[in-house]
Amino acid sequence: MCGIVGYIGGREAFPILIKGLHRLEYRGYDSAGIALLDDSNDLRVYKTKGKVSELEQFAQDKNCSGSVGIAHTRWATHGEPNKVNAHPHYSQSEELALIHNGIIENYAVLKEQLIKEGYSFQSSTDTEVLIQLIEYIKKAHNIDLLKAVQIALSQVIGAYAIAVVERSNPDVIIAARKSSPLVVGIGEDEFFLASDATPIIEYTKKVVYLEDEEIAVLERGKDLVIKTISDIEKTPEVKELEISLSELEKGQYPHYMLKEIFEQTQTIQHCMSGRVNIDLNNIALSGFIDNKERFLNAKRIIFTACGTSWHAAQIAKYAIEEFARIPVEVEYSSEFRYRNPVITADDVVIAISQSGETADTLAAIELAKKHGAFIFGVCNVVGSSIARLTHSGCYTHVGPEIGVASTKAFTGQVSVLLMLALAIAKEKGTIAEEKFLRILHEMAHLPEHVEKVLFLNNEIERYAQKFTYASNCIYLGRGYSFPVALEGALKLKEISYIHAEGYPAAEMKHGPIALISNEMPVVVIATNTGMYDKVVSNIQEIKARKGKIIAIVTEGDETVKAMADFCVEIPQTEECLVPIVASIPLQLFAYHIAVAKGCDVDQPRNLAKSVTVE
Ligand code: G6P
Repeated sequence: MCGIVGYIGGREAFPILIKGLHRLEYRGYDSAGIALLDDSNDLRVYKTKGKVSELEQFAQDKNCSGSVGIAHTRWATHGEPNKVNAHPHYSQSEELALIHNGIIENYAVLKEQLIKEGYSFQSSTDTEVLIQLIEYIKKAHNIDLLKAVQIALSQVIGAYAIAVVERSNPDVIIAARKSSPLVVGIGEDEFFLASDATPIIEYTKKVVYLEDEEIAVLERGKDLVIKTISDIEKTPEVKELEISLSELEKGQYPHYMLKEIFEQTQTIQHCMSGRVNIDLNNIALSGFIDNKERFLNAKRIIFTACGTSWHAAQIAKYAIEEFARIPVEVEYSSEFRYRNPVITADDVVIAISQSGETADTLAAIELAKKHGAFIFGVCNVVGSSIARLTHSGCYTHVGPEIGVASTKAFTGQVSVLLMLALAIAKEKGTIAEEKFLRILHEMAHLPEHVEKVLFLNNEIERYAQKFTYASNCIYLGRGYSFPVALEGALKLKEISYIHAEGYPAAEMKHGPIALISNEMPVVVIATNTGMYDKVVSNIQEIKARKGKIIAIVTEGDETVKAMADFCVEIPQTEECLVPIVASIPLQLFAYHIAVAKGCDVDQPRNLAKSVTVE
């Protein structure tokens, strides 16, 4: 949560910072701010409540010159989203300004001490405490900014990615990270700084990902210096970025979410490319091949994830238990990390995360590592913290996902996890060769199945528009389709603010059935795989209570069609692959309802794409 950007070099900083903030807006968008510096020791801070465009508007008639600056887009943790709490925060003397992504957990104690030293506070944020602390230390010890930041950070408990500028030294930005991501871009006589590489990509491909407790000194005319909090100098490890600028643009689509839904024919293909090998009849996942023994000897597999990634884990549980016969547990990272779970060195812990930065998932990994488990990561963002913290892993390779509601990352995760389940099963000999080959060949057809469903977009749009009135919605599925129901419900509530719940279809009788009336839309995944007849009975039960039935069925189904108010027909496929194909109409359904309601689809209220606070 929160996005931070910095620039120092020969160009005007303002347009670079604003563009960078727009790219990072998925991380938070309740307020934004910028600090600009120039040679005349003029440190100007502009802040606004609301989105980056409001900051841009506000700054229009202000002095926005300067070739050094830092900027921030916020997702509020401490203090309501308003102008005062927006970053950057000045120090007391207004000599320093700081932006921060993360949480300073011991801010209250530090604040009390600073108040005793005569410091006063404008905002209710933890961040302001940090910049006051840096100033206090700097003055008390009469030391330079780098030293003061090092000492201050050694007193801080919590997570941070920060950038600090100093009025009297406009040639330096000091940046540091712990548990929140930070990337330095290295250009020709210029440096960029950002929470991820997207603001940097159009200026340079050379980046350095900071490690925990590292501090970067970005000084005009000098090479990048990296030191730790305890002042050990590190050699910067320069990496080459692989994403392209066009992947970050909306193109002809009105929203990133729609673009990302439509990209799925290619992203699923990309994700399987070189891995699903039809000619050799095998699945080649290097992260698995290199660590085969850990998987084959695993007594148990534990998934840890949040949100949509947790739903992907639920699907993987069905597949791994069915095919590889290894017991699987699926844990919410936020629960797992705090509940003293039993973890042994024989466990394989698989962390799933689109962003690779989710704070709770990172903490869950640390915990599992301490207990000696083998940790495997399934991430989308290359070089992200989770990708680097795990022993091995597998990228989903679906390209940058910018819409806050996850779509292509989910189908990428499910694709990777199914490949993993099948690869383990094949190696263990727990799947019949004929079944393995049938699924493998069917996987190769997934992109065309997805394409067929995307052709139904206009039809889904027309029907979805009827539901803008709804205040509740139920999603039902059984077997592999139960997690699809959970994910479908999550999509709807995230972007349309309609309360939606996913249930295993048979569980409906134990509560949700009481909610059904002629006002209630009920989305049922009723494909002919799995427990079709049982789901048909569940549909009858809804029908008898006058619920509105929206059904996802297999092409050619006549039985459910006769009962449902609206049917989306998806191509026939293997049961374990249904989640990928059936998710697409649910994504479109949620999208079109939200658009019809006039909701901000790409940036829904209160949400952020990457949750780097617990
Ligand atoms: C946030 C996002 C969700 C995402 C979840 C986990 O809540 O809005 O779309 O599923 O975080 O994120 P991760 O990056 O770990 O998959």
